Amino acid sequence: MTTPSEPPPVSIAEYGRLAAARLPVMTYDYFASGADDEVTLRRNREAFERLALRPRVLRGVGVPDTSVEVFGRRHPLPLIVAPTAFARLAHPDGEIAVARACAAAGVTQTLSTLSTYSLEAVVEAGGGPRWFQVYVFRDRALTRSLVERAEAAGYESLVLTVDAPVLGSRERDVRNRFVLPEGMYPANLVPEEGQEVRPAGEESGLARYFTSRIDPALTWDDVDWLRSVSRLPVLVKGVVRGDDARLAVSHGAAGIIVSNHGGRQLDSAPATIDVLREVVEAVAGRVPVLLDGGVRRGTDIVKAVALGAAAVLIGRPVLWGLAVDGEAGVARVLALLHEEFARAMALCGCGSVAGIGADLVPGQGGG
Ligand SMILES: Cc1cc2nc3c(=O)[nH]c(=O)nc-3n(C[C@H](O)[C@H](O)[C@H](O)COP(=O)(O)O)c2cc1C
Repeated sequence: MTTPSEPPPVSIAEYGRLAAARLPVMTYDYFASGADDEVTLRRNREAFERLALRPRVLRGVGVPDTSVEVFGRRHPLPLIVAPTAFARLAHPDGEIAVARACAAAGVTQTLSTLSTYSLEAVVEAGGGPRWFQVYVFRDRALTRSLVERAEAAGYESLVLTVDAPVLGSRERDVRNRFVLPEGMYPANLVPEEGQEVRPAGEESGLARYFTSRIDPALTWDDVDWLRSVSRLPVLVKGVVRGDDARLAVSHGAAGIIVSNHGGRQLDSAPATIDVLREVVEAVAGRVPVLLDGGVRRGTDIVKAVALGAAAVLIGRPVLWGLAVDGEAGVARVLALLHEEFARAMALCGCGSVAGIGADLVPGQGGG
């Protein structure tokens, strides 16, 4: 908790630093780390920082309208909470605190398959809009039952993660022999036997769990399969190429999420903001394209929207808010990004999200 004598953090980066100081090393490392040398993790940020914004002036903007319609729903800003596993490691209220903060802000929450509260418990906690992220298990009946439960519980979309046929090697987790504490499980899956993310000798417990449970051989046909077992729209998360984006659309994806899993899977993958344009051009307006990876400022959201993203997702910032101050911390993280986005729009001369054009980003679209 932040205390009255301690002013609340003023930026996502400050939330990150406070979370680092407060969380046990094993937990902080699990949240913060990327794969291998963490090149892609750094690249996501560096690419945003490298892009300049070229503002327009004297546009009579006043108070900008930050809202946007995506998938038939009005969002207060083009921002969605990304799925992150095991939120209870950050705070005892875990995904429930995230749900409440999101519901209060009207922000859509994407719940991970590997959440530490069940998908039903999260719905009971708060009535906000919600998507469900799908990892396809080797056990298709189990996957199907999860998807059916999500649909029955009122989740509005499925987010199929396609960049994790195997788990990236997060060396900090290997070094720490990452495990979940006693009594903490992927709550959507208990009380099945063998679900524990337990110590695994020389490796990360999560890596062992993943290898034993998750299907490493998915194909585009599995997108068709997922669509055949649910009426919910399926977004494909983890695309970084135009040709894959076209394939996703041809297999009926309702949306594409340009993502490298926050630098946690293939190290050396490109920064997402650097490949956004290629994906947007390949998709050619047929479905919305979203992006995540390294979004930490309102100006990052402007850059992504300028280059064609319908919305962005944030992963770690939510975990930092949760670690520092539970539900209030998540609420503050969402509010900070909302305030920053509104200010960046005003400073760029954009009165509406539709007015955020590629001309704002020199060299990438507008000269
Ligand atoms: C601790 C942690 C756990 C994650 N767990 C999942 C997951 O269960 N499923 C998934 O599709 N992506 C997962 N991701 C990836 C996020 O959905 C998202 O792509 C990434 O965090 C975005 O980058 P950012 O953290 O820089 O905002 C996880 C990311 C982190 C940091």
